[in-house]
Amino acid sequence: MKSTILTIALMGILLISASNGINVSGSTHKIKLQDGSCDNGSISIAESIPLFLNFSTPLSTHQAWLNLINNAVESIDMGIFYMTLTDGSSLPSEYGGQLGMDIFKALIEAHSRGVKIRIVQNQPSASMPANDTNALANMGAAEVRSINWAKLVGGGILHTKVIVVDQMNVYLGSANCDWRSLAQVKELGVVIENCKDIVEDTQRAFEQYWDAAAMTTLPKEWPMKDDAKYNSKDMAKLILNGDQVYNMFLAVSPPKFMSRHRTGDVDALVAAINAANKTVCISVMDYAPTSFYNRPNFYWPLIDDAIRSAAFNRNVKVRMLVSHWNHTNSKIIPQFLHSLNEVKNVQVRWFVVPDLPFNPQVPYTRVNHAKYMVTEQQSYVGTSNWSWDYFTNTGGLSYNIFNANFTSQLQSIFDRDWNSEYTYPINRW
Ligand SMILES: *[C@@H]1O[C@H](CO)[C@@H](O)[C@H](O)[C@H]1NC(C)=O
Ligand SMILES: *[C@@H]1O[C@H](CO)[C@@H](O)[C@H](O)[C@H]1NC(C)=O
Ligand SMILES: *[C@@H]1O[C@H](CO)[C@@H](O)[C@H](O)[C@H]1NC(C)=O
Ligand SMILES: *[C@@H]1O[C@H](CO)[C@@H](O)[C@H](O)[C@H]1NC(C)=O
Ligand SMILES: *[C@@H]1O[C@H](CO)[C@@H](O)[C@H](O)[C@H]1NC(C)=O
Ligand SMILES: *[C@@H]1O[C@H](CO)[C@@H](O)[C@H](O)[C@H]1NC(C)=O
Ligand SMILES: *[C@@H]1O[C@H](CO)[C@@H](O)[C@H](O)[C@H]1NC(C)=O
Ligand SMILES: *[C@@H]1O[C@H](CO)[C@@H](O)[C@H](O)[C@H]1NC(C)=O
Repeated sequence: MKSTILTIALMGILLISASNGINVSGSTHKIKLQDGSCDNGSISIAESIPLFLNFSTPLSTHQAWLNLINNAVESIDMGIFYMTLTDGSSLPSEYGGQLGMDIFKALIEAHSRGVKIRIVQNQPSASMPANDTNALANMGAAEVRSINWAKLVGGGILHTKVIVVDQMNVYLGSANCDWRSLAQVKELGVVIENCKDIVEDTQRAFEQYWDAAAMTTLPKEWPMKDDAKYNSKDMAKLILNGDQVYNMFLAVSPPKFMSRHRTGDVDALVAAINAANKTVCISVMDYAPTSFYNRPNFYWPLIDDAIRSAAFNRNVKVRMLVSHWNHTNSKIIPQFLHSLNEVKNVQVRWFVVPDLPFNPQVPYTRVNHAKYMVTEQQSYVGTSNWSWDYFTNTGGLSYNIFNANFTSQLQSIFDRDWNSEYTYPINRW
């Protein structure tokens, strides 16, 4: 959550052409399913509720990460945009900077009990100096690699947020490795524990980042070790939280990071909207059927068409919660949200996280940064804003989850937010 996000993406003029259509990259050979290798796992939703917001969560991102890191035995593999866990610690305690320090210290402790830590991050810059990962590397606590994403991909950034532990446990979600994402920004992610199957498949996406950081050009085809184990056509079948059957798969953007059999992130997202017959509820920080960062911006209706078709053709009730904060792109975003709100069966609202009740504020915080969707059929939990840039150039991931129990939990979270005092009619801005 930094101004440099904008700068980096603005500077990286987007060169890649849009991928279209729903596709699983070159499915030539049959995928080997390993049924039953996850029969006692658990899955939960972790949220960051900004301090002084009147919501509660059974599992905070802070607690989820501490559990993951403190239980690590062999390895912690982090695919992150950047790390700023420590720079809140000089603020008064009511800012919550300590939450970031807890994670930083837990990483150092994990290293000292012999856990091997690897971190792959987006290329640091003068405005984004990577002090924390430098410190971890300098004390020998972690091996750190940086990806010059724009050079490899042609634009965008490594914006992913994934932590894989012991190839058994994982966090994937919207939270950056930033104390602000634990204390001042609203986030949502998925934690899976004791489930080698889907976690191993997620590990492969991490390994692609790790390998890419040492490359000067991307491979035309990713090596077989990076093949997706599961995808939208052959989902993982997992037994989680007791005796519940979960079908799920990981999806990846951008297309240049789709290894064989991997489903594309936007393809999974559009398929989920197209499959909905009753409800589609979307909570995303920024939404626009356009590009954000190239000049001139252009129209990109792939997701918008799916939303309008669902609502208008199939009478699916669509609700969208989009974030408004001090840095909302008011030239692009409102016109499209106003327009969507006029469509039969579509309702759009702004979500606003109020300022801290004291000053100074923390720049680039107090925003709903969660990026998920829930339909009557399934859940989608991702890391990307919904615009052309993110799905075409930027490195991101999503879990696509089919389980009634999970879906009803995510729906309750959406309904809590939708019905809260923090939403505003779309015509407000
Ligand atoms: C999208 O999300 C990032 C953080 O994930 C945010 O900081 C950024 O400003 C958002 N919007 C755009 C248009 O990139
Ligand atoms: C999927 O990929 C195959 C092979 O590359 C191609 O023939 C097909 O047209 C694609 N389908 C869509 C919907 O893009
Ligand atoms: C299942 O996992 C839990 C902890 O996650 C453990 O306490 C329990 O013994 C495990 N059960 C089996 C049958 O492995
Ligand atoms: C907080 O939310 C509860 C309901 O969840 C409500 O009763 C209470 O009035 C709210 N408090 C404030 C300060 O808004
Ligand atoms: C990073 O370190 C430099 C040099 O020590 C310091 O000037 C800067 O304030 C630090 N930035 C952050 C975000 O901690
Ligand atoms: C959703 O609707 C389509 C037709 O629009 C139908 O084929 C499909 O079976 C329905 N799915 C469910 C789960 O009702
Ligand atoms: C947003 O901008 C307003 C007006 O400049 C300012 O009063 C407020 O503190 C800012 N909020 C944050 C979180 O920076
Ligand atoms: C979800 O699972 C919990 C226990 O794990 C159970 O109490 C609850 O009834 C389930 N809800 C649904 C909708 O299946």
